[in-house]
Amino acid sequence: MKELKVLAVVVIFTLITYWGVEPYAHSQMHKHVESQDFKYPDINASGVKGDAAAGKNKIAACAGCHGIESQGMKAPMDAMASSAAYGVNPPDLSKVGAIFDEKFLIAFLQNPAHAAHAKPNFAMPPSAGSAQDAADIVAYLKSIAPKEVSNKEAFELACGRCHAARYAKWTQIGTVPKTKPNIKTGKDLDKLKFEQNVAEYQNKLAAYMGKLPPDLSIIIRARGKHFLETFVEDPQTQLPGTAMPRVGVTKEGYEKVEAYLEEIGDPSKPKREAVGPWVIGFFFIFTILAYLWYKSQWKGLK
Ligand code: HEC
Ligand code: HEC
Repeated sequence: MKELKVLAVVVIFTLITYWGVEPYAHSQMHKHVESQDFKYPDINASGVKGDAAAGKNKIAACAGCHGIESQGMKAPMDAMASSAAYGVNPPDLSKVGAIFDEKFLIAFLQNPAHAAHAKPNFAMPPSAGSAQDAADIVAYLKSIAPKEVSNKEAFELACGRCHAARYAKWTQIGTVPKTKPNIKTGKDLDKLKFEQNVAEYQNKLAAYMGKLPPDLSIIIRARGKHFLETFVEDPQTQLPGTAMPRVGVTKEGYEKVEAYLEEIGDPSKPKREAVGPWVIGFFFIFTILAYLWYKSQWKGLK
C-alpha cells in the first residue's frame, strides 16, 4: 500500500513537470515566434500604381550608389570603395525585382531604416521623394528582373553583402578565386590580394554593423528552419536590438535562400538519400537468399 502511494506521488510530480514546467521553461528560453508568411503586415500598401517607363527616368536617384549590370550600368564604386564609404557594398539592382517584396520595396525606398527595422545608422538614405516615385522605380525594377533566379543568386543578393559562406567559397566581396598563388615566382598573386581585400571589407562591415555577421555555411543545421524563417522575416523578433536589417524578401525569394543554405550546409544529403533504396534492396535480396539457404539446409531433414 505504501509503495503504491509513493508511486502515485512520483507519477503526479512527473506529469506536472512534463506538462506544466517544461513547456513553460521552453517558451521562456526559446521564444516561439509565429511565421507571418512573408506578408509584412505592419507595412501598408501605398495604393499608388507604379509606371515602369516613368521609373526608368527616375532611376538616376539610385545610380550614385548602385549598379544595374543587366542594363549596362556599372556600379559607381567597387566593393572596396563602397565599404570604405558606407561600411557595406550596395547590391546590384538587376535582380532585385525578382526576390524582394513589392510593398516592402516601396516603403523601403522612402524610408529604408524604418522599413528594414534597422538601426538609425543604416547606410542607405531615403531615396524616393514620394510614394509615386517609389512605386514607379519598383515597377521599373520588376520589369527588368529575370523571371527566374537561382538559389545561389538569391542568397548572394539578399544576404551575400554581409554574410560569408565558407563551404560555398563565398565571401562578402565575391567567390574566392581558384588560382594557387606562388610567392616565389610571383604568379597568380590575385588570390592573396583577394584575401587581403576580404579582411579589409570585413573590418569595415564589422565597424558598420557593430560586429561581423556570422558565416552561414552550417547555420541551417545549427538553428533549424523555423528559426531561420522567422528571423529573416524580422530579425528584431528573435534578437531585439540586432543590427541585421529586415531584408524584405518574398516567400519564394526566402525559399530559394533556404534551399541554398540547405545545399551548402548538408552537401552529402542528396547522395545519402540516393543510397537509401539500394540499402533496402540489398536487405530484400539478402532476406530471400537467406530463406532459400534455410530451405535447402532443412530439405530432407524433416
Ligand atoms: C547613398 C547611396 C545610396 C543610394 C542613393 C541608394 N542606395 Fe540603395 N543601398 C545603399 C546601401 C549602402 C545599401 C545596403 C545597406 C545595408 O545593407 O546596410 C542599399 C541597399 C539597397 C537595397 C537592398 C534592400 C534589402 O532589403 O536588402 C535595395 C533594393 C536598394 N538599396 C535599392 C535602391 C534604390 C532603388 C535606390 C534609388 C531609388 C537606392 N537604393 C538608392 C546605398 C544607396
Ligand atoms: C546588412 C547586413 C546583413 C544582411 C543583408 C543580412 N544579415 Fe544576417 N546578420 C547580420 C548581422 C550584423 C548579424 C549578427 C546579429 C547579431 O548578433 O546581433 C546577422 C546574423 C544572422 C544570423 C544569426 C542569428 C543567430 O542568432 O544565430 C542568421 C541566421 C542570419 N543573419 C541570416 C541571414 C540571411 C539568411 C540573410 C539573407 C536573407 C541575412 N542574414 C542578411 C547582418 C546582415
